Amino acid sequence: MSSGTAAIELALRALGVGEWDEVITTAHTFIATAEAISNIGPVPVFADIDPATFNIDPNHVEDLVTERTKAILAVHLYGRPADLTSLMAIAERRGLWLVEDAAQAHGAEIDGRRCGSIGHLACFSFYPGKNLGAYGDAGAITGNDSAVLDRIRMLRDHGRTTKYEHVEIGFAERIDALQAAILAAKLPHLEDWTEARRRLAACYTRLLANDDVVVPVETDGIRHVYHLYVIRSSKRDGLLDHLKGAGIGAGIHYPIPLHRQPAYLKRGYGPVSLPHTERAAAEVLSLPIYPELSDEQQQAVVDAVGSFHG
Ligand SMILES: Cc1ncc(COP(=O)(O)O)c(C=O)c1O
Repeated sequence: MSSGTAAIELALRALGVGEWDEVITTAHTFIATAEAISNIGPVPVFADIDPATFNIDPNHVEDLVTERTKAILAVHLYGRPADLTSLMAIAERRGLWLVEDAAQAHGAEIDGRRCGSIGHLACFSFYPGKNLGAYGDAGAITGNDSAVLDRIRMLRDHGRTTKYEHVEIGFAERIDALQAAILAAKLPHLEDWTEARRRLAACYTRLLANDDVVVPVETDGIRHVYHLYVIRSSKRDGLLDHLKGAGIGAGIHYPIPLHRQPAYLKRGYGPVSLPHTERAAAEVLSLPIYPELSDEQQQAVVDAVGSFHG
């Protein structure tokens, strides 16, 4: 696919999600997740998150299912797998599609099963900053139903079945061949890079143990691939300023929940209340993490967090 956003759009279209349907997703994510839903017509319905994992809360999802619900779009945020076991049970019970937004979760696992192989379809982004990144936009869809995947191949390429035979009105959403070549060269390194991220994350968690911050939870059977290493702090904004002052590239993912974005307020989301999502948006802080981060650089980050807390 040409991008992760295009992947989500086409995955939903291929599953027959249409204008009058609803798709349940999270508001604590990059806007592309919901944008892909809105751009094909259905209403994104936002479920709250589990505050321990930042991922969509299956109990809230179940409460939000209506006759119009067609799909659940679960994001593996920051590289931590969403609770697909519970979500798949809901999907099966209520006759819904489960689509994974795995844009941040290359190589993540639940009980040894890879994210991207569990939902009915899954969508990846290879935007340059992702754990596996191209040198420009690129994406992919994975799934286990070969008929659906054939339909996606046809739709992404102008609805064609042969060079000049077009059975549906499709899209120009093929991956750029140069990006595909770059990804093919980088793919063999992904495991090493993932292990480096996991080692750095374990180190942060150990070194930050005595600070006044909440570190990511590690759960048995869950392989978190740390696209981002996100801590929580009740003094987040002060801590961020302090880190920036020390020359550290910390960030916030994401400062405004989607139901509070002007684009969605205009669409009537004002009354929506998601307490855990709103609190997370006020408290999360992403510390630098990438495979090449050195021990000295990491120690400098930890020292800066420590000096803020005195
Ligand atoms: C969670 C999530 N979903 C979707 C996307 C969209 O991917 P892309 O930028 O490749 O369109 C991104 C990344 O940008 C993302 O982080």
